[in-house]
Amino acid sequence: MSDTAAAPLDVARIKADFPLLGSRLERGHPIVYLDTAASSQKPRSVLDAMLGYYEHHHANVHRGAYQLAEEATDALEQARRKVARFVGAASPVEIVFTRNATEAVNLVAHSWGRANLAAGDVVVLSLLEHHANIVPWHQLAAERGIELRWIPLTNDGELDLTDLDRLVDGARLVSVTAASNVLGTLPPVRSIADAAHAAGAKVLVDACQYVPHTACDVTELGADWIAFSAHKMCGPTGVGALWGREEILDAMPPFLGGGSMIVNVTTEGFTPAALPAKFEAGTPAIAEAVGFGAAIDYLEAIGMDRVTAHERRLTTYALDRFADRFGDDLVVHGPKDPTRRCGIASVVYKQVHAHDLSQVLDERGVCVRAGHHCAKPLMRHLGVPATARASWYVYNDESDIDAMIEAVGAADGLFDW
Ligand code: ALA
Repeated sequence: MSDTAAAPLDVARIKADFPLLGSRLERGHPIVYLDTAASSQKPRSVLDAMLGYYEHHHANVHRGAYQLAEEATDALEQARRKVARFVGAASPVEIVFTRNATEAVNLVAHSWGRANLAAGDVVVLSLLEHHANIVPWHQLAAERGIELRWIPLTNDGELDLTDLDRLVDGARLVSVTAASNVLGTLPPVRSIADAAHAAGAKVLVDACQYVPHTACDVTELGADWIAFSAHKMCGPTGVGALWGREEILDAMPPFLGGGSMIVNVTTEGFTPAALPAKFEAGTPAIAEAVGFGAAIDYLEAIGMDRVTAHERRLTTYALDRFADRFGDDLVVHGPKDPTRRCGIASVVYKQVHAHDLSQVLDERGVCVRAGHHCAKPLMRHLGVPATARASWYVYNDESDIDAMIEAVGAADGLFDW
């Protein structure tokens, strides 16, 4: 990490860029937003970019031969170029806009999976996965009879890779998260990808909690596809991306059929368009893609190394302060070492149910997610039905962690055990 990475963020200034964070909740509390892992807040520049697009440039894309249609098409394609550059894609055609990361994973399962997987073929997942990277493979297992194998976890919530070579042996696909949405664990994606490729398997990475927080280079990551969403990285909801190696995307059949994804349609059949149009049937989320591009501009202006360093400092602070204040009464699931996790802490406090805890926090303006976090196999492994999950970003600082700690302490007076 460069020296500039050590330069702390001016969080007060960053926070002022986010209109919602300056408002107050119904009870008059300022907002302590610790739920970025579910969805980030949006800076003014993203909101302005979307409004500006609608006010000055909107028409449908890739269709009209008039000025506005060309401006809208340029705006969409400029956003694609920004996304491509942000993740180190070799070409913008490797970026397919989807509704979100979930749709991106489903695209791979439906298109590549259906074309390439047959009964008995093996797909390797990990116990850390979000349902978005589990259910599509269960669906394919039900339809095709593929076998799912699971990478187990260590007691610390890291992937247990001692048996990786056996797990990937004969596999067609390994699909893993680059950052757990529950534990913050950062699996060694590159080594997993190398082992998978050596065994002849393709590699899909759920990069939803990774791309927003870490400088990403798909070549270094070693994946064949990655999936991510704009709304977790200061961008709007409704748009995400699948990056895939061009030759692999090229060989895949279309996912959804309709307008824009064809070069020709006859009564006998159709000829799919070239990349990326082949995978973008129908009118895309144009304004949202513009917002996605503006979000990337915003994060790049801060600098992704500084984003990562800031979140790591907060993670260290949070783990230390949780331990100082609550000792063993507050269990933080996942790796103990703050350098081995991202800015996410899933906690269980005494016998207080996570939903009750999040309600106590909410009464003090502290927003966290409570529940199974769409990762039920992982929750079963942890032996808890639910956790309260705090997650931080560029607009959080130590005062947010302190506010959460005070609010957790307030649960003491409210529940008997
Ligand atoms: N995947 C999002 C989360 O973890 C919604 O909360």
